[in-house]
Amino acid sequence: MKTTFLSTTDLFKNVSSTLRERGFPEAEREAELIICHALNISRTEFYRNAIQVDESDLQVLNSIVGRRLCHEPLQYLTGYTEFYGLGFRVGRGVLIPRPETEILVKEAVRLVNALGISSPSILDLCTGSGCIATAIAKNLSFAKVVASDISAPAMRYAIENAGLNSAGNLVFVQGDLFEPVRGQSFHLIVSNPPYVKGDDLMGLQQEVSWYEPPEALDGGRDGLDFYRRILKAVPRYLRDGGYLVLELGLGQGIAVGEIAGECGLRVLRVLNDLSDIERVMVLEKV
Ligand SMILES: C[S@@+](CC[C@H](N)C(=O)[O-])C[C@H]1O[C@@H](n2cnc3c(N)ncnc32)[C@H](O)[C@@H]1O
Repeated sequence: MKTTFLSTTDLFKNVSSTLRERGFPEAEREAELIICHALNISRTEFYRNAIQVDESDLQVLNSIVGRRLCHEPLQYLTGYTEFYGLGFRVGRGVLIPRPETEILVKEAVRLVNALGISSPSILDLCTGSGCIATAIAKNLSFAKVVASDISAPAMRYAIENAGLNSAGNLVFVQGDLFEPVRGQSFHLIVSNPPYVKGDDLMGLQQEVSWYEPPEALDGGRDGLDFYRRILKAVPRYLRDGGYLVLELGLGQGIAVGEIAGECGLRVLRVLNDLSDIERVMVLEKV
């Protein structure tokens, strides 16, 4: 196929102005990432300016820009994201890890270290891409981590991501919440469950409501369905002296705390995210 030399500066100006005109606030950052991904070049090659491309390269680039203009998340287009300093594969069918979830991981690692147990057991419910479980397993190499999710596509990404990050102390089980770990108990249980109110789903950013899996978001009519189910079951699966760490949706702290009280759990603390929203709740058995 015929190849030509093109200037990455010209390509960059073209892609970034297209994105900016269509209202993408991070047009420049996205343009660079899209060009590097579509043309399979490193940032160093990008900044060298002249690159050799053929027609099929430009078709790939145009197709990716077109998908972005339809608001497909950048991470689905590149198939990659970062979380807690690690790389993760993502795509349609699995939730893209969010930066605020790193607060949950940091707290989980701190709590387990403070427990001082030689071989702690940890359960990550609703693992999705496996981001929480993998980050915990990598940072607590002496722990045994089990992660579960009901979704087959999520399971496939989670297994791939654990392998990608060489997390050997981690196993995945597929099923409805605690069902795959019936009869087992854990020193730490963590979860970032679906927590969006049913009526709010279509009002989310297009990137989320059009492309991310609804089963990863939908928390039922009031957004609290999964908290009710998890909190009711936790006393049977949490060892004495252990902790439950939950991510919270916007404004759910009080309601989740009340449900926890009815289920024999006590709120130890709530951690806020960078926007000062109550984001992570730490609980223990009464
Ligand atoms: C909010 S996402 C969290 C994903 C990941 N832990 C993260 O923080 O990025 C919720 C996950 O719960 C899973 N899920 C939904 N219903 C479930 C159920 N009944 N049992 C287990 N997992 C479920 C979804 O497939 C999705 O992966």
